[in-house]
Amino acid sequence: MIRLKNVSVAIDEKPILKNINFEFEPGKIYAVMGPNGSGKSTLAYTIMGHPSYELQQGSRIIMNGEDITEKEANERAEKGIFLSFQSPLALAGVKVQQLLRLALEGKKDPVAIYKQVREVAKKLKISDDLLNRSLNEGASGGEKKKLEVLQAVVLDKNFLIFDEVDTGVDVDALKTIAQYLDTHREGKTYVIITHYNRILHYLKPDKVLVLAGGELKKVGDGSLAEEIEINGYESVLGGK
Ligand SMILES: Nc1ncnc2c1ncn2[C@@H]1O[C@H](COP(=O)(O)OP(=O)(O)O)[C@@H](O)[C@H]1O
Ligand SMILES: [Mg+2]
Repeated sequence: MIRLKNVSVAIDEKPILKNINFEFEPGKIYAVMGPNGSGKSTLAYTIMGHPSYELQQGSRIIMNGEDITEKEANERAEKGIFLSFQSPLALAGVKVQQLLRLALEGKKDPVAIYKQVREVAKKLKISDDLLNRSLNEGASGGEKKKLEVLQAVVLDKNFLIFDEVDTGVDVDALKTIAQYLDTHREGKTYVIITHYNRILHYLKPDKVLVLAGGELKKVGDGSLAEEIEINGYESVLGGK
């Protein structure tokens, strides 16, 4: 579905990601782990097409057979990619419903959007009060992450990257988010960037990728995440 070919990325000419090769297959769940600063968020932004992340010569991103390396973030979003931010920003004066209506103008009926937002919000245990506030204004960590998931669902994307959707989220909110994602995973590919095993108990990864120093150091199955939790990265990466 999305193939990374020799993906190297620099920010202000500083190399961050180094020659990443990987193929994400449709319908699967991937966990991306790695120490702080290993390049996880950079990988997420690179797949989404953030303009500050300069792809180095020879880097290619292929989606369903099409080379999207030169495509802008909005074009990639059109093709089904969604990125849930590690730290979602607040948007003063704009409610999530308004944002979604704007994003889906001409694609989805506003009444249908309204209904779906209410329905999904209920399942995610998002309060009416939060829904009617400006996006993320005064929202807790867990509330922000729930609103990210709500947007991912209503925008109806199929390649979903969640950057630390579990960070700063209490156990109940995490369970709600993870179980929702698990029961609605049909036809979707999830890339779950995380430091913790907990979310992976609900969302069983088909593969676990470990980044370190901007390189894809290791790929394993779900047991790799358990191993990391018990022994830490150093042991898993061979003492590097
Ligand atoms: N906008 C930026 N400008 C300069 N360096 C950056 C920027 N974003 C990330 N980096 C650097 O790139 C490396 C990887 O960062 P990041 O992808 O955020 O790691 P992770 O998400 O794994 O913690 C870090 O060394 C970080 O300091
Ligand atoms: Mg990060």
